[in-house]
Amino acid sequence: MVPVRTRESSAGTARSAPVDAPRDARSIATLAWPHIDGRRSVADLAALLEQRGAGTFRQLAHSLSEQLGWLVEAGEIELVRAESDNPWKSARATLVTKARAPQREPQDSAAPYRSGFAGWYERASVRSKPRRMLEGGEPVYFSPELVPIAAHPLVLERGEQAVRQILVHRLFTYLHFTTELEQVAVLPVASAIARGRAGIDLPEQMRSDAYKIVTDEAWHAQFSYDLVRQVEAETGIHLPELPLPAFIGRLDTIASTLPDRMRGLTALLFCIVSETLISAILSDLPRDSRLPSAVREVVRDHAVDEGRHHTYFKDMLSRLWPELSVAEQRIVGPAVPQIIDAFLRPDLAALVPGLTRIGLTAEECRGVIAESTPEHLIRRDIAAAARPATRYFTEVGALDHSRTREAFESAGLL
Ligand SMILES: [Fe+2]
Ligand SMILES: [Fe+2]
Repeated sequence: MVPVRTRESSAGTARSAPVDAPRDARSIATLAWPHIDGRRSVADLAALLEQRGAGTFRQLAHSLSEQLGWLVEAGEIELVRAESDNPWKSARATLVTKARAPQREPQDSAAPYRSGFAGWYERASVRSKPRRMLEGGEPVYFSPELVPIAAHPLVLERGEQAVRQILVHRLFTYLHFTTELEQVAVLPVASAIARGRAGIDLPEQMRSDAYKIVTDEAWHAQFSYDLVRQVEAETGIHLPELPLPAFIGRLDTIASTLPDRMRGLTALLFCIVSETLISAILSDLPRDSRLPSAVREVVRDHAVDEGRHHTYFKDMLSRLWPELSVAEQRIVGPAVPQIIDAFLRPDLAALVPGLTRIGLTAEECRGVIAESTPEHLIRRDIAAAARPATRYFTEVGALDHSRTREAFESAGLL
């Protein structure tokens, strides 16, 4: 067993000032950070913090074991000697070295909240806009410039009707993605915030506004679904069975690389990322006069509501990030570019049913998609759409951590 030895007892320089009690367990590693010096065990640190009134030895040892484990995983501290197979389960069997990087000081997250929902009862689309109805005719259903596969020679040679079907299918995949995104990713998080169960202290007004976001997002899912049904009736083209949107599997993959207890945080960050990105569809489709007015108005209604959400979730990030422990920031920070990619990377598998429908073979589908969506253009578009989110993560200090910055750089986001 490593003897309990504190800096004070070995150097004879005990500090008299008490440590403030932590607001929650996540701040334990922050309190311990200045005392990690290569000689102390987890038990040393727990005993030291117990003397400072930060909690009971048992609680502190448990929290430190967990959080210092995360810091080791993040490469911020080094485990120099362990006397059991699972050292973090055994508070008395572990030594840690001095951290490699300086601690980021906790920030004041108590800035006043300025609600952007003051006019929500009059302006929200669910309260003020009508059901958008298709009017018939043979319009262009999606901006061709946003559908590179529609300009591929193998599609063009099949004639105008084939191109039209591809554009209708692209509208379907967008609307389907929207309903799934709202229902699977955004609504659960917004609901948790509204119920005070998102794991972050928020001003009462922010909780109240989260209820409005829940209502907005449910309406967005509903009107997107409704428009699919109208387009089906109008065109005779039906929404094919589509796989689950790719973002769901991508998110699961990211979450599987993080500690289990950070799954909720991953979901919240995905929501923040998706709500603070500016997609070309939301900004460009409402201006395309070739499209049916119902399509343009549905997208415009959505974009206007999302403007309020954007401001809300930007504010949310500025409160959330300083609340995370150093360990959490350094574990999840490098995953943020993956979360951005999970949301923005085109769902190429969803294009296949549309191409198959116009008679392309599986091999031709793969060729059309690969030739129409080169990786460098995908990365360029992701970086452009993610620019606001990248700026917000920079502003909260996430990129002060070298591995997080490197992750943003290698993803082409900086
Ligand atoms: Fe939405
Ligand atoms: Fe939203």
